[in-house]
Amino acid sequence: MSTTTTEVAPAVSATLRLRPTTGKDDKDETQKEELEPYRYAHLLPHFSQDRYPPLTSFEHVDPGHRALSHPNPRSFLDNATVVELTPNLGSEVHGVNLARLNDDARDQLALEVARRGLLVFRNQQEFIDSSPEFYKAWGRHFGRLHIHPTSGHPEAHPEIHLVYRDANSTFNFEVDDSITTTVWHSDVSYELQPPGLTTFFLLSQPTTGGDTLFTSQVSTLKKLSPQFIAFLRTLKAVHSGFEQADFSRAGRRGGIVRREPVENVHPVVRIHPVTGVEALYVNRQFTRRIVGLKREESETILKFLFDHIDKSSDNQARVKWQPNTVVLWDNRITAHSAIIDYKDSRERRHGARITPQAERPIGPEGLDLSS
Ligand SMILES: [Fe+2]
Repeated sequence: MSTTTTEVAPAVSATLRLRPTTGKDDKDETQKEELEPYRYAHLLPHFSQDRYPPLTSFEHVDPGHRALSHPNPRSFLDNATVVELTPNLGSEVHGVNLARLNDDARDQLALEVARRGLLVFRNQQEFIDSSPEFYKAWGRHFGRLHIHPTSGHPEAHPEIHLVYRDANSTFNFEVDDSITTTVWHSDVSYELQPPGLTTFFLLSQPTTGGDTLFTSQVSTLKKLSPQFIAFLRTLKAVHSGFEQADFSRAGRRGGIVRREPVENVHPVVRIHPVTGVEALYVNRQFTRRIVGLKREESETILKFLFDHIDKSSDNQARVKWQPNTVVLWDNRITAHSAIIDYKDSRERRHGARITPQAERPIGPEGLDLSS
């Protein structure tokens, strides 16, 4: 697979730490850096050569459960302005300072994200300017923090997953042999306990472009016929991290695989542990085959479902980033894709993700997930 990534030979040096861009053609950026150091230089991607053992399983207690019994589980929004992005997915919130939410409000937040799929909070400079220790304490409220096997992270903080592109390099999972940069996925769905409530924000962004697409996997499932949904409820699928690891082993993204890739089997229809809502749980990036079906059957059904996710704009929302925006989504019931339409601007896009793991996906009653 050809890519636009900067190629970095693995294990050449003990570490690789990205420095702010100073490319010849990047005059504006260079001039800016001569005037002032990059505000978030301490959060630039670092690719340590550490090796991690396999993840272990753990019991996840979802904070949204606690909010279910709250007399007013949306009271954290009492003084906020909330605008629904679409009827079934996403709300934009003004007037809440995430950095100041107490534990009760964080529980409510988890429930609200479970119900809306996606929340976009504007004017969150205090949150974004907080320390990596704060980011991690924030995430731990929602679950055990996932450490990504291949991505860059701030030095000494492997729990913070970074996305990064500038005029001269990209450290993202990006391909350029496709007619589109759209790759719908649910983050690291190959893990036995994939992430739940996920927080993401940009530290630098292009003047325009670099929006993020989201879709409701609750809605994509609901569009299907009852008979077909009944069939999907009987299925489970293999999600694989091998391709992502191979991408790094080929020298891209930082050229390091710190934990051996895994495959895991998950239900095709997943039940949210707090709301009880069903969602489609397959994605083009990581879902490889449906267990028990003949190859052609599996390929045909997955292609149909991936195409359905791709083209159903009536299930989707698009987040246009503004400085100081923090976005939260429930990775169990949504899928998303980056949009890389800003390459020509050569501007920097630098984002950070806090990724708590959640429960092992729950399937419909009676579905055997033991193998
Ligand atoms: Fe993602």
